[in-house]
Amino acid sequence: MTDQDTHRVIPLMDLRPSGLAVPAEAFDAATRIQADGLIADRRGRTLRDLRISVTDRCNFRCNYCMPKEIFDKDYAYLKHSDLLSFEEITRLARVFVAHGVEKIRLTGGEPLLRKNLEQLIEQLAGLRTLAGKPLDITLTTNGSLLARKAQSLKDAGLQRVTVSLDGLDDAVFRSMNDVDFPVADVLEGIEAARTVGLGPIKINMVVKRATNAQEILPMARRFKGSGMVLRFIEYMDVGATNGWRMNEVMPSAQVVQLIQSELPLVQLSASSPGETAQRWGYTNASGAHDTEAGEIGVISSVTQAFCSSCNRARLSTEGQLYLCLFAEKGYDLRSLVRGQASDADLQSAVAHIWQGRTDNYSEQRSSLPADQSAPVKRVEMSYIGG
Ligand code: GTP
Ligand code: 5AD
Ligand code: SF4
Ligand code: SF4
Repeated sequence: MTDQDTHRVIPLMDLRPSGLAVPAEAFDAATRIQADGLIADRRGRTLRDLRISVTDRCNFRCNYCMPKEIFDKDYAYLKHSDLLSFEEITRLARVFVAHGVEKIRLTGGEPLLRKNLEQLIEQLAGLRTLAGKPLDITLTTNGSLLARKAQSLKDAGLQRVTVSLDGLDDAVFRSMNDVDFPVADVLEGIEAARTVGLGPIKINMVVKRATNAQEILPMARRFKGSGMVLRFIEYMDVGATNGWRMNEVMPSAQVVQLIQSELPLVQLSASSPGETAQRWGYTNASGAHDTEAGEIGVISSVTQAFCSSCNRARLSTEGQLYLCLFAEKGYDLRSLVRGQASDADLQSAVAHIWQGRTDNYSEQRSSLPADQSAPVKRVEMSYIGG
């Protein structure tokens, strides 16, 4: 960092066009944070996982995420000029990596709808962690374009993919994506990802009790022994449009019990700190984990909040930094990137924002009446990504 970087103060006006303003202390010579390395928030959580939304558009209309009635033809999606460019994303990602981020997940909307995404992946693949290693770069997709894109994504440096798949029955799948998209095309995409080596592949299934609970066992049978990890996600009260009700949530404990009734499982320990999923392995005849048969995961953010180890930050499509999936607002980093901020300014900004973080929404929700979600204007998941 140069002397000039240390002493320059960015006018506050530049920091407030939209979203939350970055704390002014981030740019004050007396309080700015220069250090590279891990930073902890107010609950002692370090920053390890950055999730970047590259588009707010999607070609599906899953009703738990982008219900058709709201996301219709009149819905105002972001203009292209509002989106962070790949260069802007990579510059910000470098700043997060300097603070200890080791994993980057590209999300959307549907990230494969962003044109030339491979170019962004190539740029991100050039970054190195604090320990000098390549980042874990992954992507969450609905799989609809995967058959076409798997090879180019792999060639660009993507390591693995997570595919959303809410059932195997074609009628159930078509009604859940609500655009009549056939399940066979997603299965073909998953196969293409496997063929080119985009693994280990994870399959995410959101469970809505009255809609696709009957798909749990067929999904478990299908992916057992496939080398892919199937994960069951409790339907969450994320966003403000999906009309969430507690009685539609199937607690993970019941999912595990149902699978156990046919396919015995043993609980496994976490594979990394802050992991979202609890892992369960299929067992062999002597009751031990059969690694060939593989494992499932359950993500229980409603019945068993995992905020205490939440190491995830989310960068929205237009460059706002969200500290929680359930936040109402993000910090406007785009105006810094498009203004005069140096990399050192950006590092100090991210450090100050993260150090002030207290978010733990899912833990708070657990103490609300059973059928109630906090009445707020939460950001939509299609805007900040899962
Ligand atoms: P892996 O490194 O592949 O294990 O990724 P991950 O489990 O961190 O990410 P993924 O996007 O696959 O997470 C699966 C689902 O868990 C998401 O789609 C969300 O539904 C939920 N989820 C992920 N992160 C959070 C979080 O920070 N808070 C809450 N409440 N839910 C989350
Ligand atoms: N509850 C749980 N998970 C959700 N996702 C989107 N909306 C919800 C919700 N309401 C997650 C799913 C999907 C990914 C893109 O986002 O995991 O696969
Ligand atoms: Fe699209 Fe994924 Fe949301 Fe479904 S869950 S509408 S596929 S972003
Ligand atoms: Fe993290 Fe917020 Fe999810 Fe809790 S609710 S795990 S703080 S993103």
